[in-house]
Amino acid sequence: MRTDKRVALVTGGVGGIGTAICRKLAADGCFVVANYGIPGTEEAWKQAMSNAVLGGDKVALAFGDVTDFATMGSMVRQVAADHGPVAVLVNCAGITRDSTFRKMTEEHWHAVIDTNLTSVFNVTRHVIDGMVERGWGRIVNISSVNATRGQFGQTNYAAAKAGILGFTKSLAQEVVKKGVTVNAVSPGYVQTDMTAAIRPDVLEQIVGSIPAGRMATTDEIADAVAFLCSDKAAYITGTNLSVNGGLHMYQ
Ligand code: CAA
Repeated sequence: MRTDKRVALVTGGVGGIGTAICRKLAADGCFVVANYGIPGTEEAWKQAMSNAVLGGDKVALAFGDVTDFATMGSMVRQVAADHGPVAVLVNCAGITRDSTFRKMTEEHWHAVIDTNLTSVFNVTRHVIDGMVERGWGRIVNISSVNATRGQFGQTNYAAAKAGILGFTKSLAQEVVKKGVTVNAVSPGYVQTDMTAAIRPDVLEQIVGSIPAGRMATTDEIADAVAFLCSDKAAYITGTNLSVNGGLHMYQ
């Protein structure tokens, strides 16, 4: 359905953090489109939206592989035709393929760089012209605490997430005069399936090193993203907002 609301597109929108971002942006008045790339992974999202009483007038799904530039172009055009032009983009799609560098395969490297970093180009490139022409836009890229601090076992992931920060600061300078802001949010360790996959002894040691003494909830990340997507954040651009419970303080 076409909507009068601002249309927000969230890549990786059916994942742990992505689902919380969808819920929050919809509550804030956006029409939210959750992109997902693996068939079947949208079921938990559907349940979460139903639990939050968010129906087809507030949220929708869009299937498509973020690693493919042409597919993302078709998806963005379809979203515009079905619902309206994308005004808010949250680049949240991300995977891990953790291993020490000496065990890392070429496949591990490219899977993470393509999904976590090249995807940001693949989607943003298709929405930026419209945002600039309409004179309003919000782009939030999900980076990570490990972009700036590094992490044993994550050379691929940390490189991709650090790349996102350079992308964010550069594009921010190019489009701010046109009413478009570009920011990053860097979560620390968050209660999701991604952190549940970390070996229990390794996770225990990581959580023990977080000054807050716990992982973040997905809602705590979504609140930071939603603020940067709001009208209140019009003068904030090129920033990296850390939400990490004190794990890493670098500013
Ligand atoms: N620093 C220094 N040395 C370390 C270390 C660390 N942090 N962690 C392990 N080592 C040492 C070990 O003591 C061991 O030494 P010895 O051989 O002398 O005994 C050696 O390195 C090998 O360690 P492992 O047994 O852990 O190696 P492994 O191959 O079994 O596992 C790994 C490697 C899978 C990468 C594992 O270390 C791991 O899971 N690390 C955590 C990765 C992580 O934090 N991922 C975050 C996922 S969530 C996310 O990414 C979201 C986000 O944005 C934060």
